[in-house]
Amino acid sequence: MKVLIHNSAELAQQAVADILSNRIAASPASVLGLATGGTMEAVYDRLILALSESGVPVEEVKTFNLDEYWGLAPDHPATYRSYMNSRLFGRAGFPVGRTFLPASDAADPVAESAAYEAKIRDAGGIDLQLLGIGQNGHIGFNEPTSSLASRTRLKTLTESTRMANQQYFDGQEATPKYAITMGIGTILDARDCLLLATGSNKADAVRKMIEGPLGAHCPASALQLHPKATVVLDAAAATDLTLREYYQYVHPDGIDVQPSHG
Ligand code: GLP
Repeated sequence: MKVLIHNSAELAQQAVADILSNRIAASPASVLGLATGGTMEAVYDRLILALSESGVPVEEVKTFNLDEYWGLAPDHPATYRSYMNSRLFGRAGFPVGRTFLPASDAADPVAESAAYEAKIRDAGGIDLQLLGIGQNGHIGFNEPTSSLASRTRLKTLTESTRMANQQYFDGQEATPKYAITMGIGTILDARDCLLLATGSNKADAVRKMIEGPLGAHCPASALQLHPKATVVLDAAAATDLTLREYYQYVHPDGIDVQPSHG
């Protein structure tokens, strides 16, 4: 796992936006896995700027989001579809027909999940999967004890996740109880994984993900199995890492340089 620690949240967000925009510039037909949550809001603002400043075309990009709440009308303002349309797709000019999320109103979530997996396969798989992390170590909506081999499916949200997300709804009662999420196995199939965590409230989950034992108690620890996983952190999210000095020695200021000898 490559661990890049930046001095501030702003620098970490910019680093992730640059990786995404460089990836699209190098491969305009990239298949990107995208994420939502508060952490990604500034990343998408910066990505939109980076894309427009360098004139990077986005018409051929295909995107698959990690997850979507289940049991909401599609036009509900707190669906992840609404979030993505308003925060990224509309503003950056991504053709909406090439952007995919599970349907929040799917009548048959089992069939919807299988169809989502098939769509990802038909697109040739995901080149780069962007990820955030929940305070309980979830990725997508794979809550603790999710199978590390899981595929896209309906998951029941934990009370702690519902609490963390109730700010986007009209109180705890109105916060969805279910979501359709890519599985951990689905996420691990991506050719590259890129996880961003900022803030001291993520420090414990970040330590368990990077240095803890591999296990379903911390779904993000499954990234230890991925051959090309990059974790971008700000200093606050890196506070609890035992080997923090080592990561900073390997990549000073979070800069991803290749070693050379001589
Ligand atoms: C949400 C999303 C995750 C996200 C996480 C952290 O529940 N399903 O994909 O990474 O929680 O969200 P935030 O960035 O708001 O802390």
